[in-house]
Amino acid sequence: MPGIARQNRPPIRPWLADVRGEKGQQLKQQTLSMRLARVAAHVPAGARLADIGSDHGYLPLALISRGAIFAAVAGEVALTPFRSAQRAVRESGMEQQIDVRLANGLAAIEPADGITAISLCGMGGETIRDILDSGQARLSGEERLILQPNGGEQPLRQWLMEHDYQILAEEVLRENRFDYEIIVAERVGPVQYSAQELYFGPLQMQARSPAFLAKWQRLLRLKQRTLANFTQAQAVPEDKVQEVVRQTQWISELLA
Ligand SMILES: C[S@@+](CC[C@H](N)C(=O)[O-])C[C@H]1O[C@@H](n2cnc3c(N)ncnc32)[C@H](O)[C@@H]1O
Repeated sequence: MPGIARQNRPPIRPWLADVRGEKGQQLKQQTLSMRLARVAAHVPAGARLADIGSDHGYLPLALISRGAIFAAVAGEVALTPFRSAQRAVRESGMEQQIDVRLANGLAAIEPADGITAISLCGMGGETIRDILDSGQARLSGEERLILQPNGGEQPLRQWLMEHDYQILAEEVLRENRFDYEIIVAERVGPVQYSAQELYFGPLQMQARSPAFLAKWQRLLRLKQRTLANFTQAQAVPEDKVQEVVRQTQWISELLA
C-alpha cells in the first residue's frame, strides 16, 4: 500500500457539546444496520474511536450524532470511500468531531489522538489480523478492540491470544442471510485458548446462543457436503481432507 498516512496531522478535535451542524441545523440521527448497531453497542461511552476501514463513516457518524462518543477518526485506505466519508461528515456538520483520514490500517492513528477504542468491521478476519499486526507500533495496549470479521475468525482469535488480548465479549448475529461475528478484546496479559475455543469463540461456546447454534448447524451441513464432494473429486490433498474431517468432528461434538 502507498505511504499515504498524513504525517504530523493535528489531533482529532473534541466534540461540540451540542449535536448541531455548523449551520446550526439539528443533526439527523444516523440509523445503522443491525450488524453495525451491535458493533456500536460495544463501543464504550465517551470513547475516542478509530474506525478503520470506515467506508462511508456510518459507525462514527451514528455514534457522534447520538453523543455516545467523544471524538472519532474514520480511517480509509481507498479513495472513493474516503471521499464519501468526507462528504457525509461535512454534510452532517460533524467535522469538528470526526476526522476522516486517508491511510492504510492503523497508520490513521496518531498518539496525540488518545484513541481508546478501535473498530475494524466488515473485512475478512485475516485482513483485520494483518492490519493489527502491521500496525502494532500504533497500539498503546489500552484500547478496546471491537472487531467484526467476515469469516477468518479463527486466525484473528489466534493473533489476539498470541498478543495477550483477552476476549471480553462475543456475538453471532444473522442479517440478510449472512452470519456475522463480533469479537471484543482488550490487552490484559497472557491468555490461553484451546484449539476449539479459537475456532468457535471461547465465550460463544459457553453461551450457546440460538444464533451461534444455528450458524454451526448450517456450517456442519456445508462441511458434510464438502467431505462428500471430496470422495468424488480426484487428488484432494490429504491434509485438506483431514482438516475438514477434524472440523466436522468438532462441530458435531459442539452440537451433540
Ligand atoms: C466492506 S467495507 C466495511 C465498511 C464498514 N467498516 C462496515 O463494517 O460497514 C471494508 C472497508 O475497509 C477498507 N479497507 C480495507 N483494507 C483497509 C486498510 N488496510 N486500511 C483502511 N481501510 C481498509 C475498504 O476500502 C472498505 O471501504
